[in-house]
Amino acid sequence: MARLRVAVLISGRGSNLQALIDACSDPAFPAKIRLVISNEPGAPGLGRAERARIPTRVIAHKQFAERASFDAALDRALEEAGIELVCLAGFMRMLGDAFVARWRNRLINIHPSLLPAFKGLNTHERVLAAGARLTGCTVHFVRPAMDEGPIIVQSAVPVLAGDDAARLAERVLAEEHKAYPLALRLIAEGRVRVTNERVEISGAPGPAPAAPSSPTG
Ligand code: GRF
Repeated sequence: MARLRVAVLISGRGSNLQALIDACSDPAFPAKIRLVISNEPGAPGLGRAERARIPTRVIAHKQFAERASFDAALDRALEEAGIELVCLAGFMRMLGDAFVARWRNRLINIHPSLLPAFKGLNTHERVLAAGARLTGCTVHFVRPAMDEGPIIVQSAVPVLAGDDAARLAERVLAEEHKAYPLALRLIAEGRVRVTNERVEISGAPGPAPAAPSSPTG
C-alpha cells in the first residue's frame, strides 16, 4: 500500500519531528515524511531532517507582509510536494482560517496538555500554578481557534511533588514522542474518521457510553 505523504512544520528544536522521522524510518510504517518546512531559518529541527535526507524548505514568515501570503506560500510548497497530511510539531505561527479550511481534517497538531484544558503557551507553568494532579499531551485535528479541534490521541502524565516546569515538560515530552507517531499511524492506516467534530477510530473501543443516571428519587 502507498505510504501517506506527510509534511512536518516546525519552528525550533524538532524533537517531535525526530520521533516522527524515527517512526517513518521503518519501511513498514504507513506514512513517510516528504517535506519539512520551518518558518525560522535557524531552527535546529532542520538539521534533523537533513540528516534523515528529507527535503527541507524555509518559508520565513518575516519575509511576508501579510499572513495570507505566508499561508499561500506554505500551501504552494505542500501542493508541489503532493502532501496529503500536514503535522504541526512546535510550529509557532497561527495559520489563517482559509488555510485551515483548505486542509481541514488533513492538518494535525500536538499540544503539551490534556486538551481542552490549558490551551496556549506556558502550559506547564499554568498546570503547576493550578495544582493539577494530571497533565499530558494531545494530538488533534486543527481548527481555526488555537489548540481546538477533534482529539485523536491523548496520554496522561502525573504531576509529581517537587516538579518544576522543566521537569514536567520533560516527562510530558516523552509521552508526546509516543503519541504523535501513534496518531500518525492511525490516520495513515485509514482508521480515523471525524464525525460531528469527534474522532472515531475503527478497531478501537470508543469512549464508554455515559452511565444512565440512577433513580435517586
Ligand atoms: C512540544 O512540547 C509541542 O507539544 C509543542 O511545542 C513543543 C515542540 O517541541 N507544540 P519540539 O520542537 O517538537 O521538540
